[in-house]
Parts: sequence; C-alpha cells; structure tokens
Amino acid sequence: MAALVPPGAAVIDVGTDHAMIPVWLVQTGRSPKVLATDIRSGPLQSAAALLEKTGTGDRIRLLQTDGLKGVGPRDGDTVILAGMGGETMISILSAAPWTREGALLILEPQSKRADLRRWLTQSGYQIESERLVEDAGRVYPILTAVGGQAPTYTEVELHLGRLAQIGHDPLFPRYLALMRARTAKAAPYDPAAGALLAAYDDIQRRLDHGDGTGDILVFE
Ligand SMILES: C[S@@+](CC[C@H](N)C(=O)[O-])C[C@H]1O[C@@H](n2cnc3c(N)ncnc32)[C@H](O)[C@@H]1O
Repeated sequence: MAALVPPGAAVIDVGTDHAMIPVWLVQTGRSPKVLATDIRSGPLQSAAALLEKTGTGDRIRLLQTDGLKGVGPRDGDTVILAGMGGETMISILSAAPWTREGALLILEPQSKRADLRRWLTQSGYQIESERLVEDAGRVYPILTAVGGQAPTYTEVELHLGRLAQIGHDPLFPRYLALMRARTAKAAPYDPAAGALLAAYDDIQRRLDHGDGTGDILVFE
C-alpha cells in the first residue's frame, strides 16, 4: 500500500499505530517527511521506540490527535488511512474538507466498504483506482481517491468496486467468491442480499465464459 505513495510525497499517516508505514516510506526514500498520527498514546509510544531504533525521528513527526484534527494541507499532500473501519474513515474525512482540495487519499478500509464508497462518491471525491491485495488469506481492496465529481455508482459497484478498475486484477476471482460467500451468509438478515447475489453470479458467468483466448473481458 505504501508503494502507492507517489515518490517525493509528504505523507500524513492517520492511525499509524507502530509507525511501520512511515518508517518504510522514509527508509526507502519514497517520502522526505511524514506526519504520523494516532488517537491513542500507547501506539505512539511504540512508534517513538521504532523511530529511535531506526534513526528516522528527524523525518517522522508523531502527533496524538483524533483523525485529522489540527492537521492541514501544510502537513502533507498524501493522506493514508489504513487498518480502520470505513465508518471511522468517513468520520475523519468529514471533519477535514480540505482533503478534497488537491490531496491524494490512500484508503485501506477493514469494513463498511460500500458505505465508504457511497460517502466518497457523494461527498466530492472520485475514486481514482482500486487494487486488490492479499494478506493472511484475505483479499481486500485499497482505494485511492482525490477531490472531484464521481460518476454514479450502481449498488453492486458500491459493494464490489468498479469492475473497470478491479475486474482484471488477478485476485478478482477470489475476491468475487469471498464477497459472494459473505453476502450469502448475511442474506437471511439483509433484504438487499438477493439482488447482490444475482449480480455477483452474473459477473461470475461472464468470467467463466471468457472468449477462451485469454483476452480481457470488457467490464464497463
Ligand atoms: C489496526 S491499527 C492500523 C495501523 C496501521 N495504519 C496499519 O495499517 O498497519 C489502527 C490504528 O488506528 C488508530 N485509530 C483509530 N481511530 C483513530 C482516529 N479516529 N484517529 C487516529 N487514529 C485512530 C488506532 O489507535 C490504531 O493504532
């Protein structure tokens, strides 16, 4: 995910925990400076210990704050929110409208991804890219977003991401199967599940009936 940071970007890592991402960013030379924030003091103590151990304290500033409170565009042009729920990200970004004006957001939501996509696309952000990553047997998306007018997303796109962005990812078939299984499990309690399952099955049919040449399927 840190590899999505543009070279030379000044980064704000929200919810940094042990500051693993900031340390990687400055040690690899990807970022000249990082502001690393966390709401809790415990993680920031661990972060301070890692900065000391790695000699990166001159390029990484630690700040205890809720989300982006007290932080602004002067502190960085790229904002990472990783390893927290989509609802927490919505709350943090709602309180920081400056992030719509020129910042690059790199988002790795652990939950409520449809809510996050809905909120972003209805709140002055466009999702520039989505990539799928695998970690410990799980497959999940990482989004990049910037301020701007988003196209209208269908309900399926809000849940899955836009097929034009992730449909050709090598991890997509596994991601689709995982999303289908999760939706099927929730079906007894979720009135929207039936329509989503039908849409996922339709996408699966399109994957299964590729033209056999190995050429890409058209997902628009
Ligand atoms: C699971 S850790 C993720 C660490 C790191 N970002 C990563 O992806 O590896 C989540 C961190 O977010 C912090 N956090 C949760 N809500 C926050 C908020 N509103 N503002 C800042 N940090 C927050 C937690 O204290 C915790 O350290």
